[in-house]
Amino acid sequence: MTRRAILKGTGSALPRKRVSNAELAERVDTSDEWIVERTGIRFRHIAEPDETTGTLAAAAAKEALMAAGLEASDIGLVIVATATPDNTFPATATKVQALIGAPDCIAFDVAAVCSGFLYAVSVADSMIRTGAADHALVIGSETFSRILDWDDRTTCVLFGDGAGAVVLSAEDVEDDRGILATRLHAEGQYSDMLYVDGGPSTTGTVGHVRMQGREVFRHAVTNLAAVLGEVLGDVGLSASDIDWVVPHQANKRIIDATAKKLGLPADRVVLTVDQHANTSAASVPLALDLAVRDGRIKRGDLVVLEAMGGGFTWGAAVLRV
Ligand code: UT7
Repeated sequence: MTRRAILKGTGSALPRKRVSNAELAERVDTSDEWIVERTGIRFRHIAEPDETTGTLAAAAAKEALMAAGLEASDIGLVIVATATPDNTFPATATKVQALIGAPDCIAFDVAAVCSGFLYAVSVADSMIRTGAADHALVIGSETFSRILDWDDRTTCVLFGDGAGAVVLSAEDVEDDRGILATRLHAEGQYSDMLYVDGGPSTTGTVGHVRMQGREVFRHAVTNLAAVLGEVLGDVGLSASDIDWVVPHQANKRIIDATAKKLGLPADRVVLTVDQHANTSAASVPLALDLAVRDGRIKRGDLVVLEAMGGGFTWGAAVLRV
């Protein structure tokens, strides 16, 4: 028997307001045609003032708990992956803990931007396997709309807000269910290619997202294909064994190019970028929840998660649902 972190439930939450490309084109010099052709994005959800990273995360967490058949009091670990916390401190995870009514437990945030959910899953997996917690809520939640420069057409059309959550529970298993392997990477020498030009210790302001899109694109395809190869190699499997890939939803062209490099058919890839745009740390758990709820991802499926973002950071996980 092996103690593993098993996916018990998923959940998600989106802000009420949905914004189309055409609506953005009224504000900046862009077009629906350009955005769809270059990115695959058609809509994004934008948080209203009463919707925050913490409230969206708590809503997603409640759904995931219900899907798992657990109560908030069962949870021993809450991790929120976010680059847009409600406050500089305390961690948004502690806010989520309070909002869902979870008693004393471990709660902290992980900052790895778009790869944050993969980092959080990897940390939760380790903590579950070593016995620090039996049930964990792992959440990716963002309100990127608050850190966008709404006059910069090269970035403001690309991002959206939302949250996704999973419950991971410890089980002693004899089969190959659960999280089988994770791989994480960071290369800080590329930090100026995708960053926020503010922060508490530098400008004392929140700042705005700045990105050299073409460079990020190039690194993303190379790094994501490589890390998928690594994580599959760790468990002795190949691309043909994968039932579903749930990729970070930054750009349909990145997703297509990565799948092509690995020889993965497009109908094995979960796509939400058209509806949600890039929700950073929330994009993978949001897409995972969608595919679980619509019945595409079923028990027994081999699922691969991957993401790449600012830092650069990137990572992948392979799990049997
Ligand atoms: O979450 C992880 C991080 N993010 C990513 O993974 C994003 C990675 N990068 C990308 O997805 C793409 O590079 C973008 C979607 C950001 C840009 O697509 P691209 O095909 O690399 O376009 P580009 O940056 O080379 O720009 C092409 C042209 C430029 O005009 P000129 O210089 O050729 O005249 C831009 O000024 O498109 C122009 N442009 C726009 N035009 C209309 C840039 N943004 C827009 C826009 N609407 N919103």
